[in-house]
Amino acid sequence: MNKNEITGWLKAGEIDALFEEACRIKNENSGNKVFIRAIIEFSNKCARNCAYCGLNHDNKSLIRYTMLDEHVVKVTQKIKKAGVKTIVLQSGEDLNYSRKRICGLIEKIKKYHNKTAITLSLGERLVDDYKAFRSAGADRYLLKIETSNPRLYKKLHPGQELKQRIKALDTLRKTGYQVGTGNIVGLPGQTLGDLAEDILFFKKFQPDMISVGPFIPQKDTLLKNISPGRGDLALKVLALTRIVTKNAFLPATTAFLTITPKEKWFHIFTAGADVIMLDYTPEHYRQNYKIYDNKKTVTFQDAVDVIKDANKVMSLKRADSLRVGQA
Ligand code: 5AD
Repeated sequence: MNKNEITGWLKAGEIDALFEEACRIKNENSGNKVFIRAIIEFSNKCARNCAYCGLNHDNKSLIRYTMLDEHVVKVTQKIKKAGVKTIVLQSGEDLNYSRKRICGLIEKIKKYHNKTAITLSLGERLVDDYKAFRSAGADRYLLKIETSNPRLYKKLHPGQELKQRIKALDTLRKTGYQVGTGNIVGLPGQTLGDLAEDILFFKKFQPDMISVGPFIPQKDTLLKNISPGRGDLALKVLALTRIVTKNAFLPATTAFLTITPKEKWFHIFTAGADVIMLDYTPEHYRQNYKIYDNKKTVTFQDAVDVIKDANKVMSLKRADSLRVGQA
């Protein structure tokens, strides 16, 4: 698909054929399975001032926290008990959280669960950090481009450049990570052409995982008065991403689940998603992980329910990239 074709689909009213094709491709690649991941949002400290994100450094109304390593490890034991074999460690971008400390945390977790995959989502770090985390046992890294439009990227991320982000993704891949990226749908100033370019970027980079989610305003950000992204548009972006990337893992992102009524969640899976991420951040901290307003907490039971509604089957396998060896 080229840019014109993708933009055509994004504009189109009649799109059943698009979802059918996305579904067919998903079934061809990983059958009717939905994979389970668990996330721990272990720190909300952040040095950045991203225009859309409630964790932005200048937001003084947030109580900042960093969980103790021992506490994080305790939560991973709960995750293991539930049978989930991927742990996503996410935080704001905080270079005060030292290389040594993150390596120590990874090692502690791997010591108890050596077969569990660890995904890091810590923002941009030094190349030597990426290497050290990988050596310590991290398997995957998630770093979203958010938008492939360099001007919009710069506007939303003061002091940062898209080029630098893409370079980081290349470095992560070279360092041996399974690499995840993704975008936000419905950012102010973002055009359908921009979304088509995001999808073409996914086609070119062929990430192992792609997180597509709608924009949701957060009250302590510059974009507090902007309307949320359209769910139907985000769903089309998801289906097109499935079609162009074939076997990448595509989570039904929490942002998607937050703006969609629960009885309609199954649509996200019939449009090509095949992963759901459960939130294991302890309640006490979770309240302050306000990346956007009313963020949904996804539980194991939620996953059971939606997988049933979508007529799919839950897989608790570790589910490494289907692209390993192809990259
Ligand atoms: N709306 C939607 N997604 C957001 N994120 C951060 N803030 C928002 C928002 N207001 C997403 C970004 C980031 C991920 C952790 O959360 O894509 O990469």
